[in-house]
Amino acid sequence: MGKFYVLLGPPGAGKGTQAAIISEKCDIPHISSGNIFRENLQNDTVLGQKAKSYMEKGELVPDDITIGMVEDRLEKEDCKNGALLDGFPRTPNQARALDSFLESNGAAIKCVPFINVDEKELIERLSGRWTCKAEGHVFHTKYKPPKEPGKCDIDGSDLYQRKDDKRETVEQRIKVYFKQTSPLIAYYREKGLLVEIDGSKTIEEVSDALINVVQC
Ligand code: AP5
Repeated sequence: MGKFYVLLGPPGAGKGTQAAIISEKCDIPHISSGNIFRENLQNDTVLGQKAKSYMEKGELVPDDITIGMVEDRLEKEDCKNGALLDGFPRTPNQARALDSFLESNGAAIKCVPFINVDEKELIERLSGRWTCKAEGHVFHTKYKPPKEPGKCDIDGSDLYQRKDDKRETVEQRIKVYFKQTSPLIAYYREKGLLVEIDGSKTIEEVSDALINVVQC
């Protein structure tokens, strides 16, 4: 197995936006736990049904469901040279599970870029976000408007607003992030893997900083 990166950051920091750019530039798969859950919700699978109520409330899906799902994805052929993880791990338990999974496959995390953005800006980004139905491509009414309103620039499919981007759910997701996910900042800092990136800059500036860190 090859190079693995974990993109860390609060909801709305730009993890998905940046992962799409880096994944293309570095030719490594973008593995988003949130996207896998949303695909399962759309297809009404058993996994989607299990995740639905947690996602709608802005809570984390339990570790016993999430860890197995991501490990199954990482076992696929396209991850043999590495992957860019977005939204996973999100709890210390998930982080330890990922470490053991990679270790047992002779691999390790290369670095953990932490995209940091303040809370007020996160709410503005999430309330203006529009997501494409087909592939999850992400736009923003102000910061990244689609060429044709309501349509994805990349595949032409309809754009929608995620249910969990409602103001009260966003606030809950941010609370959950500080309580359950932010301990991972110290976890990865202690391992010497954390690199903090100022996520308040423009999409292009953040990408440049990330490409510099990832050095693919
Ligand atoms: P998930 O889909 O992972 O959501 P999230 O972490 O809350 O992250 P987001 O997708 O909301 O934000 P992002 O950082 O990717 O920002 P984006 O690039 O879109 O998880 C959803 C749910 O699934 C969770 O709540 C949980 O229930 C469940 N789940 C998922 N993983 C789990 C796990 N591991 N364990 C348990 N449960 C899990 O950008 C946001 C907006 O800002 C966009 O409109 C974009 O255009 C704009 N933007 C981006 N960058 C910039 C910039 N630099 N300047 C201006 N605008 C920008």
